Amino acid sequence: MTLDEMKRAAARAAIAYVPDNCIVGVGTGSTANHFIDALAEIKGRIDGAVASSEASAARLKSHGIPVYDLNAIDRLPVYVDGADEINHYLHAIKGGGAALTREKIVAAVAEQFVCIADYTKRVETLGRFPLPVEVIPMARSHVARELVQLGGRPVYREGVLTDNGNVILDVHGMSIVEPGKLEGEINQIVGVVTNGLFARRRADVLLLGTEHGVETYR
Ligand code: 5RP
Repeated sequence: MTLDEMKRAAARAAIAYVPDNCIVGVGTGSTANHFIDALAEIKGRIDGAVASSEASAARLKSHGIPVYDLNAIDRLPVYVDGADEINHYLHAIKGGGAALTREKIVAAVAEQFVCIADYTKRVETLGRFPLPVEVIPMARSHVARELVQLGGRPVYREGVLTDNGNVILDVHGMSIVEPGKLEGEINQIVGVVTNGLFARRRADVLLLGTEHGVETYR
């Protein structure tokens, strides 16, 4: 089985977490794309979706799934999204696709966050994957200096602007032993919009695609 087939299997397993007649929160990335395609097959039993990126919104619409503004809805039973890394506590690093801020907002609203991933994303300690930080453009150098003070090696993701018009710094070289603490510290730096640590709002369920099928962790 290829990694892509494992992602697809995890994404399809997430359909079981989608209640009837609800609006579904939808993430961003190749695994989330598999989820969108699976959602299209059951679109008759949902009311629509809220997307965490313009790219996912476009894919949902291409399947004829109505896309709502988050401000227009009052509850979101479930959010389904991938991750770049996820540990045993279901704390994650996200933002490889630069959609971290909208992902974090939709995850914060959702009653349940279902993470879908292939087995390579599961780690003992977060931080091998460089931590994405979304930054207001004029604050880029200031934030980079502050991230160095925190022990990281920030690298500007050149040529990338987020859906919110901001830039991304990818922070290398951090072994993240207290994800919730670091998440708060980075968010305190002036000019940071948010960072890709999902510890304060961790996943509630992890559906992990493996060679032996989809494993479920809570
Ligand atoms: C996008 C994300 C994605 O969930 C993360 O990058 C995983 O992507 P993929 O499913 O393609 O492996 O956080 O900002």
